[in-house]
Amino acid sequence: MTPPTPDSQPLDLLARPVRDLRISLTDRCNLRCTYCMPAEVFDHNHVFLRKDQLLRLPELDRIIGAFVRCGVGKLRVTGGEPLLRRGVRKFLHGLRRFPDLQDIAMTTNGLLLPELAAGLAEAGLHRVTVSLDALDPGIFGAMNGRGHQPGRVLEGIAAARAAGLGVKINMVVQRGVNDGEILPIARHCKREGLVLRFIEFMDVGNSNHWDPAMVVPGREILERLAREFALEPVSPAQYGEVAARYRYRDDGCEFGLITSISAPFCRDCTRARLSADGRLFTCLFASEGFDLVGAMRADNLDNEELYRLVAGLWSRRADRYSEIRAGAAGGAPKVEMSFIGG
Ligand code: GTP
Ligand code: 5AD
Ligand code: SF4
Ligand code: SF4
Repeated sequence: MTPPTPDSQPLDLLARPVRDLRISLTDRCNLRCTYCMPAEVFDHNHVFLRKDQLLRLPELDRIIGAFVRCGVGKLRVTGGEPLLRRGVRKFLHGLRRFPDLQDIAMTTNGLLLPELAAGLAEAGLHRVTVSLDALDPGIFGAMNGRGHQPGRVLEGIAAARAAGLGVKINMVVQRGVNDGEILPIARHCKREGLVLRFIEFMDVGNSNHWDPAMVVPGREILERLAREFALEPVSPAQYGEVAARYRYRDDGCEFGLITSISAPFCRDCTRARLSADGRLFTCLFASEGFDLVGAMRADNLDNEELYRLVAGLWSRRADRYSEIRAGAAGGAPKVEMSFIGG
C-alpha cells in the first residue's frame, strides 16, 4: 500500500514515494571486504575519485533541500567509509537547517569511531550502523581484507553507545565463510542489547565473485536461531522498511533479516542514492547514475529548478532489480557498492 503524499512529493512509475536519501561521502575505504571491495580489484591501480571530483558540501546541502521537499525524512551517510571524508562533522552540523529530517544515520565500519563518535553525536548524528561480520579474529581478518581484528570495531561500538548514538549491527552472511558466526554474533548482540541485521550476500557491483551457492537465505538463518532461542515476528514500523524484524521472546531484543535475494522488497523501495561525485542512482544495482551536480552547474539551477529536476527524475523511476534478478543477469556493468554505499 502506498502512503498518502502531498502534491509536492513525486511518486515513481510504480507509485513509490521517495523517503530515504543515502549519500556516499567518499568512494575510499580503509578496509577491503571481500564481498564489497576485494583487495585484488581495489588495489594501487584502482582509480578513486580525486578531491576536486567530490561533491562540494554547499552543493550537497542544496540537493538535500530538494529531496526533503520531495518527501525525504531519513538520511543515511555512507561511503566507502564516510569517516574518511574531511568535513563530515561540519556537514552533519549543517543538517540542522532541515528540521524535516527526523532520522540521520551513518553506515560505518567502526574503525574510526573510538576517536570520532562523541564529535559526531554532538554534530547532530542520531545513529550508526556498524558492519561486523565475525567475532572470530581469523574470519574477521580475512573478510575485511586487511587483517584487522574485531576488537577495534567493538571499541568503536562502545564509543558510539557512550556518546548516546543509536547502534545497529550489519552482518553480511556468506555460506562457508562466516555462517558459523551467525550464532556467536547473535548471542553477543543479544547480550549487549544491540539490534543485529543479517544481510544476504548480494550480487552488487561486478567484482565480488557473487555465487548464489554462498547465499544463506534469511529463512535458514531464522531456523538456526530458532533452535536456540524462542522468537516472534515484529510488525513493520513504517512503509518501505528493508529488514523483516523479529524479537527474542525472553528479553525483547530485536534482530532483522535483509533478504534481497530470497525475498526481494522492491515493491516498497523508497530509497535514492547519491554518489560522492554527485550522481543520482535510483537503485543499488543500477548501471548509470544521473549527473545531478553536473546539471546543477551547467544550467546554474536555482533551488526551485533543482527541486523540479529531482522530482522529475524520481517520477520516471521504474527500478526493481531484485525482483527481476534472474532476467537482468548479464546486462551492463553495475555500479560498485563502495561507490554508492549500501
Ligand atoms: P534502518 O533505517 O536502520 O532500518 O536502515 P535500513 O533499513 O535503511 O538499512 P541499512 O541502511 O543499514 O541497510 C542495510 C543493508 O541492507 C545495506 O547495507 C544493503 O546491503 C541492504 N540494503 C539496503 N537498502 C537496500 C535496497 O534498497 N536494496 C537492496 N537490494 N538492498 C538494500
Ligand atoms: N552483499 C550484501 N551487503 C553488502 N554490503 C556491502 N557489500 C555487500 C554485499 N555484496 C553492505 C554491508 C555493509 C554495507 C556498507 O554494505 O552491510 O555493512
Ligand atoms: Fe569498506 Fe564497508 Fe565496503 Fe567493507 S563493506 S569495504 S568497510 S565500504
Ligand atoms: Fe530498491 Fe533496487 Fe534494492 Fe529493489 S533492488 S529494493 S529497487 S534498490
